[in-house]
Amino acid sequence: MPQAHLTLDPSFRIAPVERRLFGSFVEHMGRCVYTGIYEPGHPAADGDGFRTDVLELTREMGVSVVRYPGGNFVSGYRWEDGVGPDRPTRLDLAWRQIETNAFGLNEFMTWTRAAGVEPMMAVNLGTRGLQEACDLLEYANHPSGTQWSDLRVKHGVTDPYGIRLWCLGNEMDGPWQIGHKTAHEYGRLANETAKAMRLVDPGIELVLCGSSNSGMPTFGAWEATVLEHAYDAVDYLSLHNYYEENGDLPGFLCSAVDMDRYISAVVATADHVGAKLRRKKKINLSFDEWNVWNQSRFTGRERSPFQEAPELIEDTFTAADAVVVGDFLITLLRHADRVSIACQAQLANIIAPIRTEPGGPAWRQTIFHPFALTARHARGTVLRVEPSGPLLETERYGEAPALSAVATVDGSRVALFAVNRSPDQDLDLTARLPAAVRPVSASVIAAGDDPHRVEALPQPLTVRADGDRLTARLPAASWTMILAECESLREQR
Ligand code: AHR
Repeated sequence: MPQAHLTLDPSFRIAPVERRLFGSFVEHMGRCVYTGIYEPGHPAADGDGFRTDVLELTREMGVSVVRYPGGNFVSGYRWEDGVGPDRPTRLDLAWRQIETNAFGLNEFMTWTRAAGVEPMMAVNLGTRGLQEACDLLEYANHPSGTQWSDLRVKHGVTDPYGIRLWCLGNEMDGPWQIGHKTAHEYGRLANETAKAMRLVDPGIELVLCGSSNSGMPTFGAWEATVLEHAYDAVDYLSLHNYYEENGDLPGFLCSAVDMDRYISAVVATADHVGAKLRRKKKINLSFDEWNVWNQSRFTGRERSPFQEAPELIEDTFTAADAVVVGDFLITLLRHADRVSIACQAQLANIIAPIRTEPGGPAWRQTIFHPFALTARHARGTVLRVEPSGPLLETERYGEAPALSAVATVDGSRVALFAVNRSPDQDLDLTARLPAAVRPVSASVIAAGDDPHRVEALPQPLTVRADGDRLTARLPAASWTMILAECESLREQR
């Protein structure tokens, strides 16, 4: 049986566990908003039209921050359409849908409070610019006494929202984006918009658009150029990426290798620009769209005619997808020193952990489980664990470690997250701790026997303790979470 080892030592500290790593994304796309989180008239809808079944699942998932309103949608969006009594129906060109604007900023903010999540707003830098971004910020965050803040008060919202996180557009490097720009055009616009927005509200945090994914022809150069323009004015640089199996299960199971390399490359680029500009300030990362998405099956943009809330990219996820999503979360935690925000895309129906039927039930997809367990149990401080073990040979990514792992420690409580990426071989794992350890519980999602099944409830896993060692057999293609108690870790903090 192949063997793997790791070491859990409190001095291998990466960073505190940042709750913003457990973010999600709500876009006006398909059925994410309409008949997803919002469906007046649904038997489970509350007085605001929010589906309480979806709200409950959102809270159960442990979602911390939600990005809104897009996505590609934001690049053609007029935020004023979604506030106040008059809501014009418009063509949304990003997804060729009919947008009724029944749901807008104030509905979203009420929903975030019900869900207990932090809002992360995006401004339109596609068809619009600096002035409209400042107007929106004034409407949202300025107390009162000006045109836009008084309009909010007139709309029944007396207190300003104090929204802290703002994205400066979406995927502006992508030729598909409405109002797509070159890196120089976008870098200048983002810098000027960021400066003006900070004059409206100095307390905000700003996210600059990085590349739409690491396969973009301008990847690397785009990050360097936009940062050269906007380094001083922003706090974070965004990353987006989606992964799919596409008939290659062994390669797909190693998708997090690519996510890991992507993050390292963007950190290197950001630090290179910082060094060139001789800045002490570091730009941290916002991985604000990530997930599994069977994109090669998507033909949505050719849809016609325009429809309200069409069924778009409602992927049904598998056990293998859950394992890969668990590995993405491990990877984000391993980079918690530089990745400050991460949003799984999206929350409901659109490539989502939560699915709904209009007028019917809401349910958890396979990828819900590793997210919910990681969000609940990754607490305290992230520790790197120096895994060693067999290497896998993949066509997509070359050599990849079979074991991916990270740990968090909170007082004496240890949470160890591990993925065995081998599609067909179990792995005997030994974890060494600083002193005697007691396993509390362990859960596993094993995809090995039937990777394409669409059910993947976590099952108990046997873990043995022998003094300062924990041992467990990680099944082929599996995600595991082990919770344990080690008193000496509490003393060493
Ligand atoms: O999440 C779906 C879409 O993927 C988003 O609108 C866009 O930003 C990305 O390309």
